[in-house]
Amino acid sequence: MHYVGFAELAAAVSNAGGLGIITGLTQKTPEDLDAEIKKCKAMTDKPFGVNLTFLPVLTAPDYPGYVRVIIENGVKAVETAGNNPQSVLPYLKEAGVKVIHKCTSVRHALKAQAIGCDAVSVDGFECGGHPGEDDVPNMILLPRAADELDIPFVASGGQADARSLVASLAMGADGINMGTRFIATKEAPVHENVKQAIVAASELDTRLVMRPLRNTERVLTNEAVEKLLVIEKEKGKDLQFTDIIEQVAGVYPRIMMEGDMDAGAWSCGMVAGLIHDIPTCKELIDRIMTEAEQIIRGRLEGFLAA
Ligand SMILES: Cc1cc2nc3c(=O)[nH]c(=O)nc-3n(C[C@H](O)[C@H](O)[C@H](O)COP(=O)(O)O)c2cc1C
Repeated sequence: MHYVGFAELAAAVSNAGGLGIITGLTQKTPEDLDAEIKKCKAMTDKPFGVNLTFLPVLTAPDYPGYVRVIIENGVKAVETAGNNPQSVLPYLKEAGVKVIHKCTSVRHALKAQAIGCDAVSVDGFECGGHPGEDDVPNMILLPRAADELDIPFVASGGQADARSLVASLAMGADGINMGTRFIATKEAPVHENVKQAIVAASELDTRLVMRPLRNTERVLTNEAVEKLLVIEKEKGKDLQFTDIIEQVAGVYPRIMMEGDMDAGAWSCGMVAGLIHDIPTCKELIDRIMTEAEQIIRGRLEGFLAA
């Protein structure tokens, strides 16, 4: 997660029993990512991953450089996202790095499987960030993915608690990926205002922006987002990225680090409506595992006995 997935959070998630992920592109250069990975290694002896997001930009970041430091540091898993990761896949596979590609549709998941990804992360319409353009929620997308895929997949988008986990497992997923939920944790290295905004938000408080540009993003509403939506409405199909640049470009440091909550559009999932506290990552994961067992043994087994 941009300006959230630093070593502190990745290490805390891995230490708590999950697979923490460092956001590769938040590190401006491969050398910065190298330092962040080394920092994370000093904070955990558990495996963690790195996210590489392939953006629709004119000047591509130094992806080969990022891949090089990932391999040199012996990182065990890479989460790719955005465009097709085919260009980096041979290098990662050759080095034994497991690749999990994040997809928002069954056809993209099948493509990821066909090109050799080890697993996929299936991101439903409710997810924070970029849900794609198909608008299929996880209640449909997960069983569809289970019907079609041979490789393992995790459910992503709208995952917050034991109910999410048990439901996702029931629909065929092999685990869950949480984004927004992990921002509202003690270890997330973001401004307290961001955590409080998530706790205060309901499931009605996200908006979809940049749909006319086919780069749809689910964000938390705020002054800048409402202004952006007015511009989108006014410009209609003539909207250009430059029309909304003020609301979307370079706003993450101001929001995540300075806590300026109206600075611009920042990704947030509908799952905010299920987030009411700021636990440690360990408290969160332990609670999910304990309550999942209670749901399965107490509630679900009860249905069989009835
Ligand atoms: C603040 C924020 C920043 C994100 N940045 C990225 C990113 O840089 N790359 C990426 O692949 N996904 C990014 N995501 C998406 C998450 O990795 C994850 O797929 C998504 O949050 C799951 O949905 P949820 O928020 O409902 O849990 C971001 C999400 C949030 C909330």
